[in-house]
Order: sequence, then C-alpha cells, then structure tokens
Amino acid sequence: MIPPRLHPHLLRLGVNIDHVATIRNARGGDHPDPVRAAQIVAECGGDGITAHLREDRRHIRDEDLARIQAATNLPLNLEMAATDEMLAIALRHMPHAACIVPERREERTTEGGLDAAGQHNRLAPIVARLSDAGIRVSLFIAPEERQIEAAMKLRAPVVELHTGEYAHAVGEQQAIELRRLSDMAALAAKNGIEPHAGHGLTYDNVQPVAAIPQLAELNIGHYLIGEAIFTGLEAAVLRMRELMDSAR
Ligand code: PXP
Repeated sequence: MIPPRLHPHLLRLGVNIDHVATIRNARGGDHPDPVRAAQIVAECGGDGITAHLREDRRHIRDEDLARIQAATNLPLNLEMAATDEMLAIALRHMPHAACIVPERREERTTEGGLDAAGQHNRLAPIVARLSDAGIRVSLFIAPEERQIEAAMKLRAPVVELHTGEYAHAVGEQQAIELRRLSDMAALAAKNGIEPHAGHGLTYDNVQPVAAIPQLAELNIGHYLIGEAIFTGLEAAVLRMRELMDSAR
C-alpha cells in the first residue's frame, strides 16, 4: 500500500464516494467504479477519501476498501458503526482514520449524530482498540456540549460535527445552527480535539461552515457526486475546494 499523504490545505476536503457505489450497485455490475472516483479525487487535489461500509453493504463493499487503498495515496477515512464486525474489518484494512457513526438499517443516510454521551461503555473498547492500532478515531456527533464532553472522556482525537441540522434549517434557524457548530468547534479545539464537519453540505451552504476557523476537515459526498453527473467529478471537487478556500 502506498503511504497516506496528508495534503497541506488549511481546511481539508474529504470526498465521500459512497454514492458512486450506489449507482454501480443499482445494476449489480462494476460500473461506475468508486476506485476511479477516488483516483480522480486524488488527481484534482482532494485531501482524503471517505467511505461508509454499511451493515447492509448498500454502497461500498468490503472488497472496495482494499482496492481504494491500493489505488490512491490519499488517507482513507472509514465510516463505521460501533460493532464487532466493523471493528474487525477496520483492524484488517488499517485505514488512516475511522469515523464512528450511528447506523440504523432503515435510514436513508446517517440521520443523526452518535450518542457518545449515552453509549460510553459500548464505545470505549472500540475507540481504544482502534486507537491502539494507530487508527485515528473520529466520532460523528451532534454539535452539543455533552457530546464533546463524552468524546473527551472517550479520548477520541477527532470529532466530526453533524451539519445536517444546519443544512436543513432556513432563515434565522440556520444562523442558530451555525452558531452551535462554531461554538462546538471552538470547545472541541480548546480541549485538544480536532473538529471536522460534514453532512448535507453544498455549494450554497458550505462557506459559513468553512469559515469556522477551528475546523480542519469537511467530508462531503452526496452533493458532490450529484453535481458530478452534470459537470464531472473533477470540476465538482475543484469548485467545492475553491468555495472552501475563499471562505477562509
Ligand atoms: N460525514 C459523515 C460522518 C457521514 O456519515 C456522511 C454521509 O452521511 C457525510 C459526512 C457526508 O454527507 P453528505 O453525503 O450529505 O455530503
């Protein structure tokens, strides 16, 4: 495996390529291949590849992980539920990072944050095993103080703040949600946790989030893959990159 490269961008862009696999799986064949998407992301300056191996394998499959790792030198961020099965897979593949997400089979996407506060005992051994193996653990949490405190107790080096509420809010409520993200990014950073953010980000709503100075990484998938249908993946990644950079 080629060693992961950490790109020197101030705010990293991790591209979630799950939905390339969703389209592939719709016909059961091998096209479009998420590996080709990962290579394009690497060529046009993306900073990482994010992939969610779901319990039902509805998009990324086990064999995709090794192929993605072999095909690019970008760090792989594996999104995974806190289960023994996923822990074993993570330890076998040794991604650069593992982002622990809540997962319910019937949901269309990852609808809420992980209840790190309520699930300390279940999460603690998984966070410890991943960390001991040298995998950088991130917890996908709602931007709430009690969840940051729980991440501290779990010794997670990274939290990814769920931007779904912000992305879906309108008017004044969006400003309130943005303030929550900004306050929680500051709280995490103050306590030595690197804050990331993601979910539902688009060209139209990314800039206020990208402007939060403590954020080190955004993970963006559905919108970018959707835009890629019209403009190509490279153009979509470059446009997102440009918007993120100009927000800083
Ligand atoms: N970050 C995490 C932890 C996710 O689970 C997802 C996908 O739900 C994303 C980022 C990307 O979200 P989206 O596909 O809405 O851009």
